[in-house]
Amino acid sequence: MAQKSSNAMWGGRFAAGPDALMEAINASIGFDQRLSAQDVTGSRAHAAMLAAQGIISSKDAETIREGLLTILSEIESGTFEFSTALEDIHMNIEARLKTLIGEPAGRLHTARSRNDQVATDFRLWVRDQMDAAIEGLQALIRAALTQAEAGADWVMPGFTHLQTAQPVTWGHHMMAYVEMFARDLSRFQDARTRMNECPLGAAALAGTSFPIDRHMTAEALGFDRPMANSLDAVSDRDFALDYLAAASICAMHLSRLSEELVIWSSAQFRFVTLSDRFSTGSSIMPQKKNPDAAELIRAKIGRIMGANVALLTVMKGLPLAYSKDMQEDKEQVFDAADNLMIAMAAMAGMLGDMSANREILERAAASGFSTATDLADWLVRALNLPFREAHHVTGALVKLAEDRGCDLSDLSLADMQSVQPNITAEVFDVLGVHNSVASRQSYGGTAPNQVRAQIARWKERLA
Ligand code: ARG
Repeated sequence: MAQKSSNAMWGGRFAAGPDALMEAINASIGFDQRLSAQDVTGSRAHAAMLAAQGIISSKDAETIREGLLTILSEIESGTFEFSTALEDIHMNIEARLKTLIGEPAGRLHTARSRNDQVATDFRLWVRDQMDAAIEGLQALIRAALTQAEAGADWVMPGFTHLQTAQPVTWGHHMMAYVEMFARDLSRFQDARTRMNECPLGAAALAGTSFPIDRHMTAEALGFDRPMANSLDAVSDRDFALDYLAAASICAMHLSRLSEELVIWSSAQFRFVTLSDRFSTGSSIMPQKKNPDAAELIRAKIGRIMGANVALLTVMKGLPLAYSKDMQEDKEQVFDAADNLMIAMAAMAGMLGDMSANREILERAAASGFSTATDLADWLVRALNLPFREAHHVTGALVKLAEDRGCDLSDLSLADMQSVQPNITAEVFDVLGVHNSVASRQSYGGTAPNQVRAQIARWKERLA
């Protein structure tokens, strides 16, 4: 097998270079180049601190800074040549720095290890993703709020077991998703607060004998404080797991809403019309308009939750401190983040474009004996029947309507009285779907004024 000459970074101890297979399994540059900007940022903060503490000269620090900026622009313009032999982003950048500035490049790694370096870079990357998720969720919440506001008093069937249960309002249904996405948002905010501590300066695992200032680098990188235990600092990936856990729950919510959109946009339901922008046609069936975006968002939970399970499994059983296993942390998170962000954006776009079909919703709301509970409640209130008896009477009336092939509100008063002689004509007031929803005045209930109060509350919180 091919043997390379020994490695420039640790060649002192090695007589021969790695086997080609070793290089292939070891290299992470194929994916960790996504940490380029974070790596340069971290190195700049480290170099500035080393100079401030008198560990390297200010002149060397300035040369390093300029070299790093050149490298960053090379990477951004696509002219940087990444090398697999140099294993990862950290060594690729350091080797290039050596070519650009010579000897001072070798001083940058004083009081630092790739272990605290990668922990810092990845933390910065995940922190950006948390911020992006928070922004994406705000946009999503706004889109759901707009839908809710437009149809705060539109009635639709509410379901349990996907069977018609009671009428609800469109606004109420949309606001349920606002609640879910708002919890997602707070999960990302919590995770961000918890993770915002800096591992840099933990060095390989034990800290360093150089007089570094970890508070300075932490502050320069926007962290609240340095991490308090160097062993933990280099071996912790909780921040990525927190991100993936929040992302998984969020993807689950997106999946549930997608499922509703798939059902609602079908010819059998026609509750909503999705815009052409978020649908596709069929190459063989001309009549078809498929909700592909919703279906894909419905599926994203698979890979996002998969990433969560994968990283938990990688971390499980690892002894302190760093192990190379932890290099397997990044691709999962990258993939989950890319997919979460596109799913959120597509859902916000779809909600923005979607039109709910008010008449169809209302017609559906009235079918399926959806106001049977209102009838039972009326029997309790107006005739003082025990609820159990009212339930029984209502059941008999539903059966009667079913036999006649009509809705409850189509039964005559005489029909009603044949089952319960004390029923009066006032009963018809509660059989209409609008009366039904308007009566659900309990806090958090579906009555339009309750829904509007919730919309107002969320708009104020978002402002
Ligand atoms: N590429 C490595 C990773 O992603 C960087 C840290 C390597 N550290 C080490 N001691 N080999 O985890």
